Amino acid sequence: MDTNIVTIDLVGREYDIYIGSGLLYRFADFVPEELEGRNVYIVTDTNVETYAERVRKIIKDSGAARCELIALRAGEQAKSFTNVEKISDWLVDKGISRDSIIVAVGGGVVGDVTGFCASTILRGVSYIQVPTTLLAQVDSSVGGKTGINTRKGKNLVGSFYQPAAVIADIETLQTLSKRELLAGYAEVLKYGLIRDAAFFNWLEENGEDLCDLNEVAVAHAVEVSAKAKAEVVQADEKEQGQRAILNFGHTFAHALEAAANYDGRLLHGEAVAIGMVMAFDLSVRMGLCEREDMERVERHLNKIGLPTRASYIQPALTTSVDKLMEIMGRDKKVEKGKMRFILTNGIGDSYMEDNVPEKHVRAVLEDSLGGKDGRSASGSVAKSFGNSKVRGLWRSVFSSHSSQ
Ligand code: NAD
Ligand code: GLY
Repeated sequence: MDTNIVTIDLVGREYDIYIGSGLLYRFADFVPEELEGRNVYIVTDTNVETYAERVRKIIKDSGAARCELIALRAGEQAKSFTNVEKISDWLVDKGISRDSIIVAVGGGVVGDVTGFCASTILRGVSYIQVPTTLLAQVDSSVGGKTGINTRKGKNLVGSFYQPAAVIADIETLQTLSKRELLAGYAEVLKYGLIRDAAFFNWLEENGEDLCDLNEVAVAHAVEVSAKAKAEVVQADEKEQGQRAILNFGHTFAHALEAAANYDGRLLHGEAVAIGMVMAFDLSVRMGLCEREDMERVERHLNKIGLPTRASYIQPALTTSVDKLMEIMGRDKKVEKGKMRFILTNGIGDSYMEDNVPEKHVRAVLEDSLGGKDGRSASGSVAKSFGNSKVRGLWRSVFSSHSSQ
């Protein structure tokens, strides 16, 4: 299989994203700087240490002066001030200097916390992203957002700091759980929904192959997603405007994640799947988008096996419409006290809107949560597609309190 290259063209901070199978074995070919004589530091997590060791061996064989490795305990809680201190102290103890290279091997969690450390240690050291989840390959490793969570919320402390390269080896996805893969799929679908109707059509045809890890399908989807993200980031690196469309469905999703108390049960991509349906519902209620488009999206997500309504994940939530409204009021996109949403005129045609009547937002939340009476959602979509099989499946996942 060929290696596909997508370039992020930011003046003075341009870099390439390499996409292909087995790339870790050729890691050194993709490092833009000379490895010989350099100190290299790998940050990974306990679930993917094997991949990190593979990279370490190649770095050593390439003549690096030293190559150290630290493995964090896997999970969202790794994005913490405690770990920033731990990693920074470790880097200093191991002799980091400004010409060193830091490598993040893992999912979005490792990438975010490592990127943040790289941006602050010695006021900035070069780093490379080696994403090993689908979500990280199509989203978090690209575009330079780094960050950690605080007691007050997710991703509240961070920086924009672009990596020197991204090496997305799709072979690593073979060991990812199906559930994590599907969560990443929600972010892949997002690119079709926000700006590329043809890609959405392709996913309708090929989404199941992708989820079965057909390499050609995965490589294509990762490349299209990376290109889409590259274009948005090039136009608006620091999210002054257009970049916000990458948060399609995320205002709702973040509220659901908060309502699930970040206890590890609800995955980000699962919340995004539900949030994207809510964003469509809101757009339908505002007369922007045809109901048929929303139905098509929900049908596709259900076919892939993702949840599409808050009622499906009810056992994980302690919430109400009022509580979700309150959480959404604290979203990073709130400006001058107004909630902003990414809405859509139809599949592939999204934009940012800050004039959204509260009554519509409340109605969307209420419907997704299962209607006023706590039974099935009231809209026609629920009647035709409120998929009892998928709902039952997800309810049992959350009742068993596992994150697989
Ligand atoms: P993650 O990093 O927690 O990875 C999910 C799980 O899969 C972890 O247990 C991990 O150890 C394991 N794993 C990773 N790769 C594996 C592999 N190849 N085989 C087996 N197991 C593997 O989660 P994620 O979904 O990759 O990332 C979520 C994080 O990304 C969140 O913190 C989110 O805020 C962040 N994020 C950041 C951006 C950004 O632009 N920086 C964008 C989207 C999401
Ligand atoms: N994941 C949203 C962004 O990178 O802007």
